[in-house]
Amino acid sequence: MTKRIILFASGNGSNVEQICHFFEQDKLVSIAAVYSNNPKAGVIQRMEPFGINVKVFDKKSFIDGTLLGEIISLNPDLIILAGFLWKIGSEWTASFPQKIINIHPALLPSYGGKGMYGMNVHKAVKENKESKTGITIHYVNNEYDQGGIIFQEEVSLDQEDSPEEIAGKVHKLEHLYFAPVISKLLRKSENEG
Ligand code: GAR
Repeated sequence: MTKRIILFASGNGSNVEQICHFFEQDKLVSIAAVYSNNPKAGVIQRMEPFGINVKVFDKKSFIDGTLLGEIISLNPDLIILAGFLWKIGSEWTASFPQKIINIHPALLPSYGGKGMYGMNVHKAVKENKESKTGITIHYVNNEYDQGGIIFQEEVSLDQEDSPEEIAGKVHKLEHLYFAPVISKLLRKSENEG
């Protein structure tokens, strides 16, 4: 049976775009919806070639249960946070246990937690002169960046790498691995019935 995924993004949306490309020819997986909390998010334009109308929501509907009700009625097999920056509430994780995943642009548990997103992460990695960084794909629970880890991949850094160059290396990994990991998760749940 077709697996339905819902994607959330707050900004640029390059990961969402890559995921849409990856599943374009995949009969098992369908994109049920793409959501954003940001009416100016780049993801809105990126979805145009796919004929996907990004649904923009506000804080009120996110908090008062309206949006969650809508998501439940869409009956997704997996909810994917791809650069989504609001904290998911406990009603969400209770409604979708082990069905919400996030990508984080560092090797958790390092460089996770509140305020650790996007360039903030890469700047902190640079400041600490790390010799490597990477990506973490994990289940979402009620604490920032603390749900069970599904997948990690690392990349080595040069001391001269700027935060922007670090971001570029991390994005490369994200675009390479996120969609295949999603595919594997969906196929695993298919085999489990
Ligand atoms: C990605 O690097 C993702 O890991 C990060 O936001 C970026 C979104 O890029 N997510 C977080 O920092 C979440 N804490 P994109 O909009 O181009 O896909």
